[in-house]
Amino acid sequence: MVDLLLGLQWGDEGKGKIVDVLTQDYDIIARFQGGPNAGHTLEFDGIKHVLHTIPSGIFHKNAINIVGNGVVIDPVIFKKELDNLEKFNIDITSKLFISRKAHLILPTHRLLDAASETSKGKAKIGSTLKGIGPTYMDKTGRNGMRVGDLEFDDWKDKYRSLADKHEGMIDYYNVDIQYDLKELEEEFCEGIEVLKKLTFIDSEQYIFDAMSQGKKILAEGAQGSLLDIDFGTYPFVTSSNTTAAGACTGLGVAPGKIGRVLGIFKAYATRVGSGPFPTELFDNDGKTMGRVGNEFGATTGRPRRCGWLDLVALKYAVQINGVTDLMMMKADVLSGFEKIKVCTAYKYNGEEINHLPYNIEQDKVKPVYTALKGWSKNLTKMTKADELPPALNDYIDFLEKELEVPIKIVSVGPDRLQTIRR
Ligand code: GDP
Ligand code: IMO
Ligand code: MG
Repeated sequence: MVDLLLGLQWGDEGKGKIVDVLTQDYDIIARFQGGPNAGHTLEFDGIKHVLHTIPSGIFHKNAINIVGNGVVIDPVIFKKELDNLEKFNIDITSKLFISRKAHLILPTHRLLDAASETSKGKAKIGSTLKGIGPTYMDKTGRNGMRVGDLEFDDWKDKYRSLADKHEGMIDYYNVDIQYDLKELEEEFCEGIEVLKKLTFIDSEQYIFDAMSQGKKILAEGAQGSLLDIDFGTYPFVTSSNTTAAGACTGLGVAPGKIGRVLGIFKAYATRVGSGPFPTELFDNDGKTMGRVGNEFGATTGRPRRCGWLDLVALKYAVQINGVTDLMMMKADVLSGFEKIKVCTAYKYNGEEINHLPYNIEQDKVKPVYTALKGWSKNLTKMTKADELPPALNDYIDFLEKELEVPIKIVSVGPDRLQTIRR
């Protein structure tokens, strides 16, 4: 069986940390969608690591890490990630496998991303500008380049014709984008040479065989459910299916082979980039969350917008994904708030509703809050569930009742060890 770990909000829930914590129980960790728009942070032994493409199980000796067919890979960023890992003596060729069917992000994909965003002006998505949208467009448009193409001598011809086409498209946008393609291509080719040293596999077959041998597999999601191309706050979304079904297509796993679905959420909410966020705070509470939670994007460094937990949106994510176990992250950040607010309904067109309407723009949707008592205790040194303050337990009980799914992990700090199992 394959278990899934998925972000239930707008990304950055703490997926990297939890995958790292859970890897000891798994034989294989596999990414199934997204690309280097992701920034997954893990911390142990006083060192912080940020991964973009490489699965978050890479620091454990027991596990194989797979970059699945649904992922898009930028060889330039991938090389940098590998360079950062060098000092940790990880046997990359035997621990990290890449699907031949994963698509490649070309330098011109990144430029197209920038051109598209610039042309949108105020309506921009707030993309990470890693070329994600244009690469998935080429994938579904059946023009893309895949990792497996690199095993054939004509890959440079394929590259050239696609890059030439992209240059025409960049001109079409008619925006001021400065670039030196020769320089970008040199960097790209260096990345390709590094990528080619890795082990390419037919990951669907590898995973099928591993399952037949009873191996335990964890699929690591990127982004979050509200950034899903179909079910997120379109068009302010990413270009892949971040929800449970994405693991089936992104790894080639049959739906009946999906085991537990682990849904991860912050005790409050954040969003980076543009798009609706009904519970966003513009007051001191929001600023406190940002400061205490150190809410800056792991990929772009942009400050994350902060707000109270949105249960309407969270319920929707639990439902779409079929979540079986919940994990609540960053509970420590809420210590010191006199009241903890939770959005339990929306006011929409003069009515109170409990579902996500088609359009959740701020001026159309007003959150209805339930206020719970806060707690003042510092949680960061706690290691056991029975140490948690009563007001936090009340918050957890309230959420479990509303979501009808148990909260199995409460995270109280960024380190591996700051993880409480219930
Ligand atoms: P991901 O994209 O879902 O892997 O999450 P990110 O790494 O982008 O963002 C999560 C941030 O919160 C990282 O800086 C983590 O180190 C940090 N973090 C994770 N869990 C906790 C927690 O329980 N408490 C605090 N204070 N920080 C956490
Ligand atoms: P992890 O895996 C948070 C957001 C961007 C932008 C939108 C589209 O670390 O949770 P894209 O680059 O995909 O074209 O951007 O999605 N976004 C993320 N926000 N965490 C992420 O990944 C994100 N990946 C993309 O900010 O709003
Ligand atoms: Mg992140």
